[in-house]
Amino acid sequence: GETKRQKLDGEERRITVVAHPNIALIKYWGKASEKEMIPLNDSISLTIECFHATTTLIARRVNEGEESGDTVSINGVDIGLNTRFHRVFKSVRDLLSDRWSFSVSSSTNFPVAAGLASSAAGFAAIAFALGKTFDLPGEDIERLARYGSGSASRSVLAGLVQWKKGEEGKESHVISHFPADHWPKLRLVILVVKEEEKAISSKEGMERTARTSALLQDRIRRNGEKIKGIIDSFSAHDFPSMAELIMRDSNEMHAVCLDSYPPIQYLNSTSWSIINLVHSFNSEIVRAAYTFDAGPNACIFTLEEHVDEFRTLVSSSFSIGENAELKSIAVSNLGQGPRIVE
Ligand code: PMV
Repeated sequence: GETKRQKLDGEERRITVVAHPNIALIKYWGKASEKEMIPLNDSISLTIECFHATTTLIARRVNEGEESGDTVSINGVDIGLNTRFHRVFKSVRDLLSDRWSFSVSSSTNFPVAAGLASSAAGFAAIAFALGKTFDLPGEDIERLARYGSGSASRSVLAGLVQWKKGEEGKESHVISHFPADHWPKLRLVILVVKEEEKAISSKEGMERTARTSALLQDRIRRNGEKIKGIIDSFSAHDFPSMAELIMRDSNEMHAVCLDSYPPIQYLNSTSWSIINLVHSFNSEIVRAAYTFDAGPNACIFTLEEHVDEFRTLVSSSFSIGENAELKSIAVSNLGQGPRIVE
């Protein structure tokens, strides 16, 4: 009787949101601070419309003496909370006067194990859901997302989003330069590559690169001009210029991984076949640009008018299926930022 009634009276808030993963055109690789999740360089990205995480957050007010425990389930499976989740929940509790516990259930329409920046969509969704539930300002939302996964902070905004590392007196933050519909013909073709073995996590990889790669210093030094190049070429719809910057930056991120010691390899032979295929597709005019995150899957930027020809070329060059070289192909528009669905 009594305890049950108290539970029913206790406040409960529920929200469901959707967020998209993002793909970086100039990538984040290396942290200046693991504690504050501050990157060594700025990065810039767009979100992928066809993929999304749908996340329900239930926040329960915890009365004095009551047990509180947070839970997270992803695609129906309860997961043990790692330090990232604890950090996000602790940070939001620090902002609130009452005590709350959180229960998150998230589902994705793309394979989490495929390494398609699912953590970015997931943490952006959690941060956005927390922000809307407790009326938090945008800077808290992006910081919560960042604490979950650095790249997630770029998924809390729409369009061409730059994650600035911040300077003295100015905290690391994100800004959107253009809305997603600034370039309506831009498309993404995602090639999901069959993985042979589990790769080293981005956290571990970044630490090793920052600790051991001398080439990384040169990469960081040229970051400002590359970011500017992306903003200018995106602004002018200059596909060939933007494409070259994207491909070179992806190659460079994987080059500093190779320069790390012991070396880190994320690309496999299928990834390399895709790289070569794109360069032959581009032999006369640059019509496509590949980029790879910390895994073998390719994200190809192209324009609407080239999608069919590129897709046909891919289909005639690779076997496609669950156990084949390529697991699947998806074609997407650029996505929006997170939104409330319920
Ligand atoms: O997912 P994170 O935040 O640990 O970082 C991954 C970084 C890359 O995906 C490899 C590049 C990027 O900027 O998204």
